[in-house]
Amino acid sequence: MGDGREERAVTGDPVRVLVAEDDGEMLDLIRRVLADEGYAVITASDGQEALARLDDGEFDIVLTDVRMPGADGVAVLRRAMTRKLHQPVILMTAFGSISSAVEAMREGAFHYLAKPFDLDDLLGIVSSAATQIRQLRESNLNEFESDPFFPVVFRSRAMRELLLLAREVAASTATVLVQGSSGTGKELLARAIHRMSRRRDRPFVAVDCSAIPETLLESELFGHARGAFTGAVGERRGIIAEADGGTLFLDEVGNLSPAVQAKLLRFLQERRYRRVGDTVERAVDVRVVSASNRDIREEVRRGAFREDLFYRLSVIPLHVPDLKERREDVPPLVYHFIRTFNAANAYQVEGIRADALDLLLDHDWPGNVRQLENVCERAVILRKAGLIQPRDLPDDVVASRRDGAAGARSLEELEKAYILRLLGECDGNQSRVARILGINRRTLYRKLRAWGAAAGEPPA
Ligand SMILES: Nc1ncnc2c1ncn2[C@@H]1O[C@H](COP(=O)(O)OP(=O)(O)OP(=O)(O)O)[C@@H](O)[C@H]1O
Ligand SMILES: [Mg+2]
Repeated sequence: MGDGREERAVTGDPVRVLVAEDDGEMLDLIRRVLADEGYAVITASDGQEALARLDDGEFDIVLTDVRMPGADGVAVLRRAMTRKLHQPVILMTAFGSISSAVEAMREGAFHYLAKPFDLDDLLGIVSSAATQIRQLRESNLNEFESDPFFPVVFRSRAMRELLLLAREVAASTATVLVQGSSGTGKELLARAIHRMSRRRDRPFVAVDCSAIPETLLESELFGHARGAFTGAVGERRGIIAEADGGTLFLDEVGNLSPAVQAKLLRFLQERRYRRVGDTVERAVDVRVVSASNRDIREEVRRGAFREDLFYRLSVIPLHVPDLKERREDVPPLVYHFIRTFNAANAYQVEGIRADALDLLLDHDWPGNVRQLENVCERAVILRKAGLIQPRDLPDDVVASRRDGAAGARSLEELEKAYILRLLGECDGNQSRVARILGINRRTLYRKLRAWGAAAGEPPA
């Protein structure tokens, strides 16, 4: 992200693909096929060269062989990810097996191709990555960062859909209620909505409704007249006025007292309010985004939260899933945090060893992304340079692996998620999916049937 050297891609620019492959004939073939389709292709004939190219160039897509002299495809994948988030990396390997495909996905690869593959499959996968890149370029989101949804890091489909929805609602002034467990990134999403909206140059004002004493909150929010109450020496504009033209973020909104709930409701209905102890009606133009890690509907049922206000606040309800529901986000988040904490401490951690990443992938993350962030900060500080190892991780993260079943289950979950995603991208074409994975159709069918996802007749 923005180190100044990055070129700002425009929609019409060719998509730049780095191809790393040690088999010269294969490299040449791929180069020609991609160039014929209009891609700008840069080649590297071994791992070291690929790493060097990554260090001094900008690529939209990286296509790399796994087995190469110098550095293998996984090292290329890791380097690509520490340099640029959301970088689609496609791995190719002659040793096709589902488990290596799943391993590649664990490390954050975009796709995996088993050799020998059909050039059509290769083109299909590169073109789906390119479509994604063109959409991102067109979405004008990269006005502020070359990373389209900056600063929200993700790879999962669930987060992608959430952000696409958020981007749509950002254009309106509809109120948004963000719900989700603690540490999932609710505030970050609220800020992203602000940045994606036309209000982005106006203030984003956050109020933590649980941190301000009930008795003060009303005057903090809406301001007060001079002498409105004991101690109100001067007058005060209130937070709502500070947010004029921008976004007001009401965090932990479930904590509002009945009096403030009533006043907020009136404001949302009429867009007008009065300062405490004042008779003048004032208008402000603010977009309200609120958040809660409690289920507000439940609060409504308990009678602790006004139903009419709940509906006003949640015109657009958004739910941020727990991290354990979207484990694919762990690798890009880890690389993002490694980069962040390297920068903050001037350290040179280069990535994470596969066994350490596995531990992070298998953990349940009760504290969600915030907890992962803390774990990464600690690991970067302990490691300082090189690759993060299991012993740099806290005991509870390591311990959660000890009941081996958790690991096995999550590997299967990942396999299932990957294969189903692939199936979706291939429009349900099982032969194509089997070919990409380098497994036979019957094996694929058996798996799909076990997951209750088989469609059509078993292959002969
Ligand atoms: N997708 C993400 N990409 C990058 N950083 C993230 C992401 N999600 C969360 N974080 C980081 O994790 C931390 C917690 O996020 P945030 O404060 O937005 O969570 P929250 O849901 O509001 O938590 P709480 O319920 O405890 O208030 C922050 O430092 C945030 O930057
Ligand atoms: Mg929060």
